[in-house]
Order: sequence, then structure tokens, then C-alpha cells
Amino acid sequence: MIRYSRVIGTGGYLPAEVRTNDQISQTVDTSDSWIYERTGIKSRRIAGPDESAASMAEIAARQAIDAAQINPEEIDLIIVATGTPDRIYPSTGCLLQQRLGIKNTVAFDVQAACSGSIFALSIADQYIKSGAVRTVLVVGSEICSRIVDWTDRSTCILFGDGAGAILLRASEETGVLSTHIHSDGEYEDLLYCPNPQVAIDANKHEAGYISMRGNEVFKVAVNTLGRIVDETLEANNMDKADIDWLVPHQANIRIIIATAKKLKMSMDQVVVTLENQGNTSSASVLIAFNEAVRDGRIQRGQVVLLEAFGAGFTWGSALIKY
Ligand code: UT7
Repeated sequence: MIRYSRVIGTGGYLPAEVRTNDQISQTVDTSDSWIYERTGIKSRRIAGPDESAASMAEIAARQAIDAAQINPEEIDLIIVATGTPDRIYPSTGCLLQQRLGIKNTVAFDVQAACSGSIFALSIADQYIKSGAVRTVLVVGSEICSRIVDWTDRSTCILFGDGAGAILLRASEETGVLSTHIHSDGEYEDLLYCPNPQVAIDANKHEAGYISMRGNEVFKVAVNTLGRIVDETLEANNMDKADIDWLVPHQANIRIIIATAKKLKMSMDQVVVTLENQGNTSSASVLIAFNEAVRDGRIQRGQVVLLEAFGAGFTWGSALIKY
């Protein structure tokens, strides 16, 4: 008997405040046309002062629990992917566990920057396939607006806040077909966010903001995502034509178009959310997946390729027969 991790529920949350390109153009030297042409982004959501990664994770998680029609007590494992945890510890996973009011569950965080949800999905799938657990809640939740330097036009135009959730359960019916995750720590300088309280160099007083050499990241991202697509198809003995939907990390429309081209997929088969959400880091893939499930684009039995790339560098994919 093959044991799959089947998707039994999804959820998502976006904060209410919309920040448009025009609004950002009033404070830094940029324009709506530059941002839209180079990134595909028009606006992003910004969390309110009372919101946090844990509070947004709770809303997305409760939606997934409702969709799956399960009792939260049935969750054996909670994995939260976030680069913007409420606290260094307890983990956002533990804070979410408390918010959901459940006791007999293991909870922890995964930190793999924008690839975090794919890494978390991969861990969840291994735990389910091994028989160690039955039901896993995976959440990506990010409050990027708090680690963005709003005076740096090269980064502040890109990011947004939000959370996505997915519930997986052991099943004989299909689900996650394979996951593939990778890291290469060579590239720290191209994309990082310092932790100012735990400085590695006491003389270098860095603020806790995202720092990115965007153009160099862009090139590595396009090449790497092309390779992960091949790796995923080969591992499953599948052809490009077998994929019904691409759910990519939402960093830049030009990166997404390049990956779709490589897969010979029409943009009608690609779930794009970044226009009104920006890059929500580890949350982006799960938010996009949830949207396409809820609006009926992704149907049961279809094959969906999720992929992401982020700081580290980290990158990965998950192939799901939904
Ligand atoms: O999610 C994690 C992974 N992250 C990514 O995958 C992000 C990947 N990178 C990107 O998406 C793109 O590199 C950016 C959108 C960040 C930048 O686009 P680009 O086409 O690579 O532009 P660039 O960095 O090469 O900059 C081109 C020019 C520069 O001016 P000069 O040197 O040519 O005079 C920048 O100073 O554009 C300038 N520039 C801007 N101009 C107006 C940079 N940011 C802005 C801005 N508005 N916001």
C-alpha cells in the first residue's frame, strides 16, 4: 500500500491595508510604471499594528481546518515557515498551537526564507510517508513589511504580508507525489536580513532590514528554477505536458514567465497572485495554491507543480496530484 500525503484543506489570509505603487512613489524615487514593468506588482497588503505572523497564521490555519472539516485536536504536527517570527522563541508554530488551543501536537518553525513552505511541505510529507504522523498542518506566514527598509527603493517595492495554510493527511488516495529541496549557502551576500540583536560583527551595526542584490538574485533564480523543474519531472517519470498547474513563488512576473516557458505552459495554467500581493516570501506559494483551489481552477485529480526560490540560497519544488 502506498501512503500519500493528501491535501484535505487549504486556507489563506491577507491583511486589509492595500499599499499601491503610487503610494510608495510618494516616499521613494520610483514609479508605478517602473515597478509594474520590472516586477508585475501593482500593490501589496500591509499588516496592521496588532497583526503578526502568528495572528495571520491562525486565520489561514482555521480556514484550512474548516475546509477539511476536522477537529484541530486531530493535527499531529504543525510546521510554520516564516522569516518574520513574532519571537525568536517560542516558535511561531508553538504560538499557533496555543492559539488553536491544542495540546497533543508537535509544533516548530522552518526557516528557509521564500522557500520555507516548500521545505515545510517536504518535511510534512516525509513524516506522513514514514507513518510517524497522520495529519500535518503546514503554514507560511510573513510580515515582510516589518523587515523592509521603506527608504530602499530596490526592496520596498517588492514585498507584502500574508499567510497561507495547507492540511495534509495520510491516505491511500494520491497526494504529494514528490518534493525536492536544496540549499547553497554560498550566496549569503546577495540576499540577507541581519538580526541586529545577535550581530555577527559587533562593529557592524546593521539594521534588521532585507538587503538584496536583485539583479544577481534574479539570474540565479531563473536558472535554478529551470533545473528544479527538470529534476521534479524526471523523478516522477513525467513529461511537461503532464502538469496541469504551475503554482510558483511570487517574486517577479518575469521569473514566473521564464519558468512557464521552460515548461511550455500557457500563462493560463499558471497561478499568479503577485500583482496585488507582491512577494509574501514563504507564504506566497500556499496563498496562491489556496486561491486557485477555492476559485475552482485547481480540480481534484490534477497535477500541480509548486516551486520556490529564496535567500540562502534555498530552492525547492513539490509535485502534488490534487
Ligand atoms: O523572493 C526571493 C528571491 N528574490 C527575487 O527573486 C528577486 C529577484 N530580482 C528581481 O526581481 C529584480 O532584480 C528587481 C525587480 C529587484 C530589480 O529589477 P532589475 O531589472 O534587475 O533592475 P536592476 O536591479 O538591474 O536595476 C536597474 C536600474 C538601476 O539603475 P541604474 O543603475 O541602471 O541607473 C536601479 O538603481 O533600476 C534602478 N532601480 C529603480 N528605479 C526605479 C532599482 N529599483 C528601482 C525602483 N524604481 N524601485
